[in-house]
Amino acid sequence: MDVPSHLQSEVKQLVSVHGRDRTALLPVLRGLNKSHSYLSEAAMLCVSKELGVPRAEVYGVATFYSFFSVEPRGKYVIRLCRTISCAMNGTYHPVVAALIEELGVAFGETTADGVFTLEQTACIGLCDQAPAMLVNDDVHVKLTKESVRAILGEYRRKAAAGEKVKSA
Ligand code: FES
Repeated sequence: MDVPSHLQSEVKQLVSVHGRDRTALLPVLRGLNKSHSYLSEAAMLCVSKELGVPRAEVYGVATFYSFFSVEPRGKYVIRLCRTISCAMNGTYHPVVAALIEELGVAFGETTADGVFTLEQTACIGLCDQAPAMLVNDDVHVKLTKESVRAILGEYRRKAAAGEKVKSA
């Protein structure tokens, strides 16, 4: 598999920051996941070569952590907490319905325009402000169906304006 030159340059840059051994594997993968929203085969191959870490190990790390993805995802990855404090909150099911209705996708899917991926996650430590979700690195709490619609509208506006995205 050929690794595009821009990807090689990006990996070399990350390696120059984080080091050239296996301890750099996580931060290098995080950097790539952040800029591409996922870890492609080519990216993982390049990391394997640069760090001298077997491809299977790179793939194993990439698939172990839920905040990494080996499938293309949207510009904004929405992670709605599904653990008990959030799931038992009275606004949780209306929030789920609003997300699915507004985005037109189910959990695990990406919108056709590539802007949003909708996912669920285990507790993100915001139980006292349930229901909670992350959109990339941004925290949103005490969700209601109304606030969810407003939040999605704001990210749609940012996407249309081409604003820089925080980590996926
Ligand atoms: S249960 Fe949802 S943040 Fe903890």
